[in-house]
Amino acid sequence: MKAVVATELNDFSVINVDLDAPKAGEVLVKMKATGVCHSDLSIINGTIPSPFPVVLGHEGAGIVDAVGEGITHVSPGDHVILSFIPQCGECFHCIHDEPYLCTAGKPDGCLLDGTTRVHNSDEDVYVMSYLGNMAEYAVVPGICVTPIDKDIDWKAAALVGCGVTTGVGAAIKTAKVTPGSTVAVFGCGGVGVSVIQGARIAGAKQIIAVDLSAEKMENARRFGATHTVTPGGDAVREVMELTGKRGVDFAFEVIGHHSTIEMCIKCARRGGSAVLVGVGRTTERFSVNSLILPLTSKNIIGCMYGSVNFKVDFPMYLDFYRQGLLDLDGMVTNTYTLDEAPQAFADMESGRNTRGVILHG
Ligand code: APR
Ligand code: ZN
Repeated sequence: MKAVVATELNDFSVINVDLDAPKAGEVLVKMKATGVCHSDLSIINGTIPSPFPVVLGHEGAGIVDAVGEGITHVSPGDHVILSFIPQCGECFHCIHDEPYLCTAGKPDGCLLDGTTRVHNSDEDVYVMSYLGNMAEYAVVPGICVTPIDKDIDWKAAALVGCGVTTGVGAAIKTAKVTPGSTVAVFGCGGVGVSVIQGARIAGAKQIIAVDLSAEKMENARRFGATHTVTPGGDAVREVMELTGKRGVDFAFEVIGHHSTIEMCIKCARRGGSAVLVGVGRTTERFSVNSLILPLTSKNIIGCMYGSVNFKVDFPMYLDFYRQGLLDLDGMVTNTYTLDEAPQAFADMESGRNTRGVILHG
């Protein structure tokens, strides 16, 4: 089958690989749509550490083709969304209502048993986040899939697999944005506009979009941003001015850069929250004046996968979509074939896309 494989650091291409049948507890999924997320690029460029070669892709939806021994919650023909974190239901975090921190697997490029089903001749090929679904098919852990209604558009379903769940969840689940509150969002790509949509759904009265790009900030208005700042200007000063010098109740960083993290923390009001969503390099460090947190009672909150419980939340976000609360169609700027994946990455890097989606046919 064809797959988009990062062969070594800073190099990737669409190549043919072999895929084994699913083992016990695993599911073979024929992919229908795969979103192209900044985290895929972060694997290629080494921001997120990974072994190579590795099949990219961690945001997707498809049809169950075959199931391994012991799988009962899905069967061939079911439509499913993939979760890039397993949910075993048994580990410490799963039983303490933190399934997004499930420890069933290790992020080492393998499935749960420490091996991979993908090979290129004699060489093992790893998979990104237990999935590696930027490919025609993916064999994934059964505890990474959940069924969805068959009438849902594939592109919308794919986005729920990562960006939408991360962003909307950051607002409504991690931060618990309250009605009438004020919000600032640093970084208005696919995940950032999802935070904006989550804040709008939660009833925030003011949502300030911050991005390097004027187009991205204007685009953010269609998803619920009420204000934008001057591109290249002093974003912290402008956010303070827009909030009567107080700062926002909830500030989100959706880039993963120390400078924007520091700005995000400054923009949170006394007693407010700075929510860190963006994934930076392992070498990235931000600094905070040690007086600030005790004197202001600010909270700095980490956000993993929008605090998702995917069996509950994936269908909930699809319901929001059906009800017209969540605009997923508008987030899909361009679609591509699997062979066009290099173009999809180029368009993400040049800032052309809110989200690019690969359609597998
Ligand atoms: N200041 C302001 N905006 C910035 C800056 C900066 N210094 N650097 C980048 N941006 C903006 C870009 O202009 C773009 O609009 O951040 C946005 C990032 O968007 P995408 O590339 O679409 O990334 P996305 O998929 O939304 O992911 C964002 O979340 O899940 C993580 O790993 C992911 O860290 C990444 C982040
Ligand atoms: Zn992602």
